[in-house]
Amino acid sequence: MSTADTKRPPLAVVILAAGLGTRMKSDVPKVLHEVCGRPMLSYVIDAALSVSPGRVVVVTGPDQEAIAEILPVGCERAVQQERRGTGDAVRAGMEPLRDFEGDVMVLMGDAPLVNGAFLRDFMDVHAAGGARATVATAVLAEPVHYGRVVRGTEGGVGRIVEARDAGADELLLTEVNTGFYLFSISLLRSILPRLEPANAQDELYLTDVIHLALDDGQQVEAHVAADAEVMLAINSRVELAGVNALMRRRLLERLMLAGVTVEDPETTYVDWGVEVGRDTLLRANTHLLGRTTVGAASEVGPGSFLRDAFVGDRARVISSHLYECVISSGCSVGPFAYIRPNTVLAEGAKAGTFVEIKNSRIGERSKVPHLSYVGDAIVGVDSNIAAGNITANYDGYDKHATHIGDRVRTGSDTTIVAPVTIGDDAFTAAGSVITRDVPKGALGVAREQQKNVDGYSERRAARRLREQGEDA
Ligand code: UD1
Ligand code: CA
Repeated sequence: MSTADTKRPPLAVVILAAGLGTRMKSDVPKVLHEVCGRPMLSYVIDAALSVSPGRVVVVTGPDQEAIAEILPVGCERAVQQERRGTGDAVRAGMEPLRDFEGDVMVLMGDAPLVNGAFLRDFMDVHAAGGARATVATAVLAEPVHYGRVVRGTEGGVGRIVEARDAGADELLLTEVNTGFYLFSISLLRSILPRLEPANAQDELYLTDVIHLALDDGQQVEAHVAADAEVMLAINSRVELAGVNALMRRRLLERLMLAGVTVEDPETTYVDWGVEVGRDTLLRANTHLLGRTTVGAASEVGPGSFLRDAFVGDRARVISSHLYECVISSGCSVGPFAYIRPNTVLAEGAKAGTFVEIKNSRIGERSKVPHLSYVGDAIVGVDSNIAAGNITANYDGYDKHATHIGDRVRTGSDTTIVAPVTIGDDAFTAAGSVITRDVPKGALGVAREQQKNVDGYSERRAARRLREQGEDA
């Protein structure tokens, strides 16, 4: 029978998230800082949930309601009253597990690259080793501030020493403590009460659980992570940027493997949860953030920034900014368009160069090609809003709506003073300031009539000659 088939004891996961994150220099709890648009803690919770534990307990501080708010259903919160270190945090996490029997997995809320595949391996190794404590370790070329694993004479785990407590020789060790552990709960119950502060930080170290277990003659196993990346933790904004880059790369690779062409992964930014359809081309310097979705066979970028935007199939979004909007299939946006919240471009519509659209619907195949502002407007199908049109939608107190029908042709430089309606098949003359409704099929002209002054050029030249004669 393989280890995977062995009957496993029930599993509870305790995620440590109460730390102050002093090195972040932030008013926001560290575990809520975002990696690819999502709190780092959420990734750790996902990894935990992916191994189907019976219980998941997240340890937070008493003042960290904001963390409680992002916990998914099925996740319990335990409160660590005072931040007395990782050992004390596990004590707090054990409170809701008073009646639980089985294994306890401990994870660090600041290590979001952890994943289900790694945790399953870890559980297999723990089960196969038969120890009551297994610590996951990793080998890092630059072990920096991580706790060092000192191996005993027989090769087993001897000690874990924090970088700040380590001597010069110990600092040279490259095997480090991931901060991920599996314990049988009975071991924790017997050892946690015995933790004492005895180190540079005057904290209760979770690593001392390993030392006390060894002192008791308990077997302690180590599982060396095949891929050290899973353990990288975030303690400063420098590490935040590093982990962001790794996570972003993972998300981009997932998209590329699903059929998306990413022209320049180095300058393409996608948030967690962003979806892109196959044969879509993401050009350089493009951001797809929040709940953005792009369909198939579309082209986005270069230089586009989309937040909470929906883009359909076969659409083009070139060098433009889009927020909370819907760009339907076959639409063309940009270059240099600014599409603001509650805008819908229906199928085949166009928002062209230096065009701003807000809270408006542009009907099927209608176009706003150049230099226009459209706000609080509904435009029908097959209409064309010519260059330099403005919907004057704000009177200083209130916003007003503009209705433009189907197959309308406005003239260049039309100002449309809302509220106003332009009927189907109507026109406006170039340079008009439209303040009254234009009926169906009519031409709205609202400008001074042109007057031509005949013979002006000759009279002007004659006057000049006369003036020169008088001067001589
Ligand atoms: C810890 C380990 C170190 C390991 C590293 C891996 C200890 C003593 N050290 O160090 O060996 O290499 O993680 O990333 O365990 N937390 C609480 N309450 C507290 C203190 C911390 O909930 O009182 C939480 C933090 O929010 C954080 C996690 O525990 O998510 C780790 O704490 P942190 O202070 O970052 O520990 P490290 O110094 O990184
Ligand atoms: Ca840490």
